[in-house]
Amino acid sequence: MVLVLATIAPLVIVGAVGAALLGLISVGAMVAVALAAGENPGMITFGAMFLASPVQWWTGRSQVRVRKYLGIVFFLLALSNGVMFAIESGVGAALSAPFLVAGTVALALAAPLFVTSNRWSQRRLGMRRWRLLHKATYVVAVALMAHVLLIGDIGLGFVLISLGFAARVPAVKRWIQRRADRRRGIADPRPDTPALQLER
Ligand code: HEM
Repeated sequence: MVLVLATIAPLVIVGAVGAALLGLISVGAMVAVALAAGENPGMITFGAMFLASPVQWWTGRSQVRVRKYLGIVFFLLALSNGVMFAIESGVGAALSAPFLVAGTVALALAAPLFVTSNRWSQRRLGMRRWRLLHKATYVVAVALMAHVLLIGDIGLGFVLISLGFAARVPAVKRWIQRRADRRRGIADPRPDTPALQLER
């Protein structure tokens, strides 16, 4: 369901580009449609991807494939936003305002994450360096939040990313895991404090 929803925005963008190439709509209309399909859907896709790990803690089911697919869709939407902006305003304008710097940083950092989101890169880099590189996801998240905060447009995507950060607070993460364990019938398996954990 999530994967089907996430596919709609890229299809709209491909449709708009195709229609412009065939001369059915103007370049201006293509840019407008592609930006509309890339901006809020892009934030929401990133937010959903950022929530994949908390969902995994809660359900106990691997979300690796969902996260990977959402990551790919997010990058394509982000790239589309960058390209459409460049067509509209020129590449030189990409750093002309703080909110644009934030958007450009998010796109620039998402690129190496996208390129290395495969097993081959994991093997080449080694898991330790790969994980370190992919911590840049947090910087992308902050840059995206800054992008929309500076515009003054807080939407669902911003809320999802905030929830993703909240779920990663260690106490909240432990709470989610304990509730999930209890639901699955595992009695009090995760003690609250590190001291207690040592005792066990
Ligand atoms: C990296 C992924 C990006 C995401 C997810 C994203 C998301 C968004 C969102 C949600 C909005 C608000 C849309 C609205 O008001 O309806 C927005 C606006 C905008 N973004 Fe981005 N953006 C991204 C990258 C970029 C980049 C790279 C640029 C250009 C350098 C850019 C330029 C703009 C501009 C010009 C606006 C319109 C601002 C306004 O309405 O005053 N964005 N973006």
